Amino acid sequence: MNLTDRIVVVTGGAGGIGAALSRRFAAEGAAAVVVADLDADAARAVAEDIGPVAHARALDVTDEEQVRALVADTEQRYGRIDLFCANAGVTTGGGVEIDDVGWDRSWRVNVLAHVYSARAVLPGMLARGGGHLLHTCSAAGVLTAVGDAAYTATKHASVGFAEWLAITYRDRGIRVSALCPQGVDTPMLADGLADGHLGARVVAASGAVLTPDQVADAAIAGLAEERFLILPHPEVADYARRRAEDPDGWQAGMRKLIRRLTA
Ligand SMILES: NC(=O)c1ccc[n+]([C@@H]2O[C@H](COP(=O)([O-])OP(=O)(O)OC[C@H]3O[C@@H](n4cnc5c(N)ncnc54)[C@H](O)[C@@H]3O)[C@@H](O)[C@H]2O)c1
Repeated sequence: MNLTDRIVVVTGGAGGIGAALSRRFAAEGAAAVVVADLDADAARAVAEDIGPVAHARALDVTDEEQVRALVADTEQRYGRIDLFCANAGVTTGGGVEIDDVGWDRSWRVNVLAHVYSARAVLPGMLARGGGHLLHTCSAAGVLTAVGDAAYTATKHASVGFAEWLAITYRDRGIRVSALCPQGVDTPMLADGLADGHLGARVVAASGAVLTPDQVADAAIAGLAEERFLILPHPEVADYARRRAEDPDGWQAGMRKLIRRLTA
């Protein structure tokens, strides 16, 4: 997919990666970019900064009615949605002690929201014979997020769901991509680094911390090639290969890294 004249929706569009995707899609010639976010004021600021092709929308991705209404309104206004980016995501910063409210929020934002948007957008895409779903998952979805159990479990689920969609719908014209960055310089990681959180330190020690714009570059390249797995950090492919070939050896390496960082 190239972005010229495309109608695009980005959830979590007011934040780091989502805002960079929204800006980049507009720069690539999208006809409309809907910047949807829980933080309506921040979404409005991003849309105003982008210019007339962008429109802000208040959206809680965990509320299926709101997701359905966003898709219906966008299709009514523009006739279609070409690219839906399920990008909003949350961390917990904790392990098994995180209460059910935290686990439930992770599940709802990181996984169930992807189901809601696919459910809402697929009928129109299938009727038109094409469309692209870009799900922002994470390297945590193919590896692990040290220090965040719910993030690890739900990001693995999000990669699994995206893969299921890709296999199920590809032959009916639907392309699916799972965007799986490692460290990206957004509040999500920066706040963790500022707090000295082990997980954030492991991320920073495992590879380059990219800018959101660099992630948007990788997304544009991956969309152009209609690739399923989009890895802005190429080393993640090596880590994933090592993990698949030798799970125990890979875990030993992770534990060694943690010991080094906590010594
Ligand atoms: N920053 C990283 O290092 C990193 C690495 C890998 C993957 N990711 C993933 O990238 C995506 C974007 O993260 P980011 O780093 O830009 O984080 P961010 O916190 O800067 O932005 C996330 C955005 O999602 C919005 N959001 C949260 N809950 C929402 C909800 N219920 N409904 C609608 N919007 C909601 C927030 O308001 C915010 O604008 C997430 O899915 C995250 O898991 C981030």
